[in-house]
Amino acid sequence: MATFKLLLLPGDGIGPEISVEVEKLLAWLGKQGIASFEIERGLVGGCAYDAHGKAISEGDMALALAADAVLFGAVGGPKWDAVPYDVRPEAGLLRLRKDLGLFANLRPAICYPALADASSLKRDLVEGLDILIVRELTGGVYFGEPKEIVTLENGQQRAVDTQLYTTGEIERITRVAFELAKARRNKVSSAEKRNVMKSGVLWNRVVTRIGKEEYPDVELEHVLADNCAMQLVRWPKQYDVIVTDNLFGDILSDVAAMLTGSLGMLPSASLGAEDPTTGKRKALYEPVHGSAPDIAGKALANPIAMIGSVAMALRYSFGLGAAADLVEKAVANVLGQGIRTRDIADKGQNTVSTSEMGDALLREVQALAG
Ligand code: IPM
Ligand code: MG
Repeated sequence: MATFKLLLLPGDGIGPEISVEVEKLLAWLGKQGIASFEIERGLVGGCAYDAHGKAISEGDMALALAADAVLFGAVGGPKWDAVPYDVRPEAGLLRLRKDLGLFANLRPAICYPALADASSLKRDLVEGLDILIVRELTGGVYFGEPKEIVTLENGQQRAVDTQLYTTGEIERITRVAFELAKARRNKVSSAEKRNVMKSGVLWNRVVTRIGKEEYPDVELEHVLADNCAMQLVRWPKQYDVIVTDNLFGDILSDVAAMLTGSLGMLPSASLGAEDPTTGKRKALYEPVHGSAPDIAGKALANPIAMIGSVAMALRYSFGLGAAADLVEKAVANVLGQGIRTRDIADKGQNTVSTSEMGDALLREVQALAG
């Protein structure tokens, strides 16, 4: 049985509660002999700031670099609103992405039939929806320099963020999107703002060239990012894979999340480049939702996005596609049985707690495994 090194970073808010449910699943996978996990635990975000005065310690960064995969909960909360900018909770996540070279962020948005009524869109628009947003994650305006607020001679302040992309950065994320599309419905939609931004012009050019030269059999379309946001709420099923930059991907994936019924449903994978000698990629898996401080500690959080993130780890980091399918099937079945946390419940419907949902998922995984 293969052994994998995992770093668990529950983080803040509901992160620790949903991580407990993930640990139950990992323990079961170990017991079944599907894979065994050496689990290290660390701190990230506000809790790391409280402990070390930084959003992630050097020790935990070293563990992340050594791990086969990092499982990340969520960071942030009002408690840390006033901490200095460079040690704010989100800085821990951004450092992990950057230092691990996790340039490819995969955000699938799947609408389970049982949840189609939880979406804010009409059932026929979202039922059976299955799209994948491929977001560039280590470049663009998140990391471009200069990034500063300077005080001018007249006493005014001027804030600068820099949107910056190189050919190579665009090429590698484009290839990830095309490769994934080939295993899906064979269509890539590239979203940028070439009508306003130079980075959009280059993005469009590079994606067009890679598509033509390397993936002539995959359909490619270009869409302006604002139009893409509109199309996502107008007729989302027109999309298969959407490839886009860091900031547009952040925004478009929140829109896509809501199509599925709840932000609590969306898992994500952040992957680095394949190591040419080991064939392995650095990887971090996290739910798309945030730390939800308003419901933290109340057993109301939905663990499905975090458990779905483990399924993605099984598939993309551990080569355990069948186990990933099992977990995803269990999610669909549990939803089909009408089991709901509060965020995905209809008015008047009974709801379960975080751990009851975790237990129901585990029971279903066990039943499916026979
Ligand atoms: C996300 C989040 C992060 C981002 C925050 C927490 C820094 O919104 O992963 O979508 O903006 O990338
Ligand atoms: Mg976001």
